[in-house]
This record gives sequence, structure tokens and C-alpha cells, in this order.
Amino acid sequence: MNSSSINGVSKTFSDSDQSLDTPTYNSRKRGAKKRGIKVSPLKRFKGLGFLIGLLGVFFFVNWWMLSRLNHALFIQKISSSVKNSESPVVIKEDLRKIVKVKKPQKTPFGRLLKLAAHALAEGQNKPDPKGLWEEPYDRASNWKPCAEERDWEPSEGNNGYIMVTANGGLNQQRVAVCNAVAVARLLNATLVLPKFMFSSVWRDASQFGDIYQEEHFINYLKPDIRIVKELPEELRSLDLDAIDSVVTDEDIMKEAKPSFYRKNILPLLLRNKVIHFLGFGNRLAFDPIPIQLQRLRCRCNFYALQFVPKIQEGGALILKRIRQNSTNAGPLDSYLLGPYAKKMVKGKSGRSAKGPKYLALHLRYEIDMVAHSLCEFGGGEEEQKELEAYRQIHFPALTLLKKNEKMPSPDELRSEGLCPLTPEEAVLMLAALGFNRKTHIFLAGAQIYGGPSRLASLTSLYPHLLAALDFIGCTASTAFAMTDSGSQLSALVSGYRMYYGGGQMPSIRPNKRRLADIFLKNSTIEWKVFEQRVRKAVRQTKQVHRRPTARSIYRHPRCKECMCLLE
Ligand SMILES: *[C@@H]1O[C@H](CO)[C@@H](O)[C@H](O)[C@H]1NC(C)=O
Ligand SMILES: *[C@@H]1O[C@H](CO)[C@@H](O)[C@H](O)[C@H]1NC(C)=O
Ligand SMILES: *[C@@H]1O[C@H](CO)[C@@H](O)[C@H](O)[C@H]1NC(C)=O
Repeated sequence: MNSSSINGVSKTFSDSDQSLDTPTYNSRKRGAKKRGIKVSPLKRFKGLGFLIGLLGVFFFVNWWMLSRLNHALFIQKISSSVKNSESPVVIKEDLRKIVKVKKPQKTPFGRLLKLAAHALAEGQNKPDPKGLWEEPYDRASNWKPCAEERDWEPSEGNNGYIMVTANGGLNQQRVAVCNAVAVARLLNATLVLPKFMFSSVWRDASQFGDIYQEEHFINYLKPDIRIVKELPEELRSLDLDAIDSVVTDEDIMKEAKPSFYRKNILPLLLRNKVIHFLGFGNRLAFDPIPIQLQRLRCRCNFYALQFVPKIQEGGALILKRIRQNSTNAGPLDSYLLGPYAKKMVKGKSGRSAKGPKYLALHLRYEIDMVAHSLCEFGGGEEEQKELEAYRQIHFPALTLLKKNEKMPSPDELRSEGLCPLTPEEAVLMLAALGFNRKTHIFLAGAQIYGGPSRLASLTSLYPHLLAALDFIGCTASTAFAMTDSGSQLSALVSGYRMYYGGGQMPSIRPNKRRLADIFLKNSTIEWKVFEQRVRKAVRQTKQVHRRPTARSIYRHPRCKECMCLLE
């Protein structure tokens, strides 16, 4: 197989990041009923119980916290969700049919897991390896936030109104909102407060104002663009479809350049006075973009979007719990929790302002991800059948592609680093890095593994709320480990840690290609050698570099538009 076909596939994958990202929450809703391939990996740990302990410390944290959140929020949201609950049932039924219990033939990595268990037991009282909780390269701290600096007059927004209804999960929507802010400025348009699309997949009726502070958003961006809560009366009666003012993702190419908007959207805006972007996933390029416009996008992401007090309060409770009731705030708390961060430090003036260390792990191993990867995970033919059935329903284009073109084999995909890390691989990586058995872990996006059955119904109703809490739990962590760098949550979280972290907030991003190479030797490799190679591979991904051209500023804010480099 030639490398271009692999590249072809990898392109397909990165293109679908958008749709793949937040189904984390999609799969949660199946929680209680679902017995899928996600559940089985944990069973593989039997006999290595204390590795589960390592992973499991905070399974229940979110649940615990949620039960303490103000009931009003839930009641209000339950009623709105119930109103909208007809269509999703179909999907749920489909899933129930295809997703059954399945047991892997044999524990993958059994030998390595035993070695890991042994090493962890031995290393219990040893100090952490040097640099475990730190960014290894000093240069990281030369980058300082600077997206707040403005160099222009406010736009009056006279050319018309831009409405946007963002699709996808919470994190995709965040990106869409900030891209819409930039487009509004580009076209001298007034932005109507963004709406979030209700989808049968997410089943979350949350709107912008349920998640983010509206007044802060409007006021903070006043020196940049004009934002209104609603379309003016006289425009509301327009049939936008009839006048061609509804612009869907099919009408705009991915990563469209500013010139596209000027040429194709501006005339429409001037003629109709209103444009409605529907979906708006990934529709504005990262390069080339005028520097001030790029900076506006950063400003939106890092300053204008503040969680509502309810979520901040919930986040504060979660963090307090993970930090073993310590009231000391972490370095990023104030950006995430607003006034609730201050409450945490009150009365503890004598001590360091840093709470106990914890690791956040975003284990992106849900069925959608697994099915989409076209990889094999040791479940044999049965697994392949299940995944194919899932693909037929959710990724029909992929099924078609697979039928009509010669695709790389699962082994080839694996060696190219295109397969999601399994829970076993993730745990081996963490153990090799030196996280010991006492490590406190916040596990994002994985409540489905062991939460009480009540959790299933809760998570099905509030995926956005939970996504916000995951965002907080991951961003505020001492160290953050992801298993898939393409996921929007992982991307936004690492960017946020880079932006506000002062070079002190490490993110662990596995180089899956190199790890695959190491894992190939699983049946012979010595633990010490395994450790060394994993540490080296992870350390390399922490190198400090400028944002590569055309890459996301939200993920890579180390660029002159967002941050300033002090030499
Ligand atoms: C927006 O307004 C600025 C300042 O008035 C002007 O220079 C620019 O050409 C306008 N752009 C559009 C697309 O109307
Ligand atoms: C934290 O506080 C809660 C509630 O007061 C208590 O149940 C829990 O045991 C405490 N946890 C620790 C680690 O101290
Ligand atoms: C584990 O090792 C065996 C034997 O070397 C190899 O065939 C297998 O592919 C390895 N597993 C992974 C996931 O690399």
C-alpha cells in the first residue's frame, strides 16, 4: 500500500474531527442499557484490580457534584428536554440492537500490564520522576497571553445581521461561535447571539445563555463588534429560506478564506440585511487571516466565553472534591470559575495557592471513535461485525468508501498512529510515565463506565452541562493527558492550558505512531526499556513551537496573534 492512500484516510479522519468530537456525550446517553465494546476493556483488567483503582478514583465525582447542583437548573432543563424528546428514540433503538456485550478473546497486553502493576507496586513510595508534573521545556514560559490588545475601532455593524446556529457538541460550538465573531467583524455585520442547534444525537436543548454569560460576551466584545440578543422586529418576519439567506455548511467550503466571505456572503448580506449560518463547523480558515481578525478569534475563545455562575459553581465543587477538599485554587481556576475561584482560596492565606496535584485524563474511546477508525481492537469477528453495523448507521460515507476503495489494513492503520488508544494502552502510557498508584485522576467523558444507573438518565439530559464540567476538570488539572489529539475537547483544553498556564501546565499528547511501534514489542520488551521509550516519545511532543501554518489558534495559541513571545 502506498503512503498516499494512508494519507487519504488520515485526511478523511481529520475532516471528520468535527462530527466525531463530542459524541462522548452521545454515547453516555446509552449508558445503562448499553453494553458495548467500551465496557469490555475494563473487564480485561480483572486480576489487575489496582490498575482500575488508578483509573477509577474519580468515577463518581461528577455524579456526586451534580447531585449537589441547584435543582432549579435541572428542573428547568428536564422540562425543555422532555418537550423535544421524540426523534432521538429511533437512534437509541438502533443502537440497542447492534450493541451487545462482547468479550475480547484474550487480554491484550496482559504481560505488559502485569509488569506495570509490578512496577507501580514497587514504586509506591518513590518520589515522582523528575518533570512528571511540569512542562519540560523552559521556553514554554516565554509565551504570555496577549490577545486582549486591540488595534482598531469598534465596527458599527451596519452591513446587516449575522445569525449563527452552531451544530455539534459544546466544544465544536465554542469554535463556531468565535469564528462567527470574526466573520461578523470581517463583514461589518452585527452578530445576533449565537444559537446552538438541537440535534437528535446530542438531545440537549441548552442554549448559549444556559452555558455562557450573555452580558459578558456582548460587553466584552463591544470594542470589536456589535452583538444583539435578537434580530430587530422588522427583520423577524423575513422568510430567510425564500430569500436565500440561509447558508449551510454545503454552501461554504471548509476553512474558507476571508475573500470567500467578501465575495459570496457580503453581497447577500447587503441585499437581504440578514444571513443565517446553519451548522457553521470549521468554516473559517486559520491562514491566511489578517492579524487583528485572528486575534479577535483568540480574544473570543480566551476571554469572551465565560461559563454561567451555575456551571462555575459546579466546577468549583468538582475541583474541590478532586483536590481532596483543599480550598486552595489552582493557577487556572480564576479563568474558569470566576468569583467561585476566589471563594476557594479564602481563609487559607498561609499556604501555597496550589491545590493537591491531579491528573485529568480524556479517554476518547467511545464506540463512534472506535468504529470510525476502521481499526481492530482484539474482539475478533464479532467486534468487526458490530463496528460495521455501527458504521452503516452513523458513517454511511465511510462504509461506501470502504466498499469501493482499497483501504489500509488495520495493522497499517495502527502503525501509522491512526487508531485510538485503548484504555489499556492509555493506562500503560501513564504507568510508564511514572504516575503512581496514589495519583488522583479526573476521568473526562467516561462516566458511562461505572456510574450508578441514575447517571445514565442524567447524562442523557445534560450532555452540554457535563461537557462544560469536563472542560473545567481537564483544564484546571495539574497534568492533562489525552488519548486523541484530534478531539475538540482535548484540543481546546490544551490550548487553554497553553494560553493561561505560563508554561507550567503540561499536556500529555501521545504520538500514536511512535507508541504503536513500541506496543508492537509488547510480548518481549523489558519494563525499563518500555518506560524509557514511552517517556521519550511523550517528551518530544511537548516541545515548544510556534503554531504551524493553517493549524488551529484555539489548539496552538503560541503564535503572534494570540500570545507574545518574550525573548
Ligand atoms: C468595514 O468598515 C471598515 C471601516 O469603516 C471599512 O474600511 C471596510 O471596508 C468595511 N468592510 C466591509 C466589508 O464593509
Ligand atoms: C470531603 O468532604 C466531604 C463532605 O464533607 C466528605 O464526605 C469527604 O470524605 C471529604 N473527603 C476528603 C478526602 O477529605
Ligand atoms: C503485541 O505483540 C504481539 C507479538 O509481538 C503482536 O503481534 C501484536 O501486534 C502486539 N500488539 C499491538 C497492539 O501492537
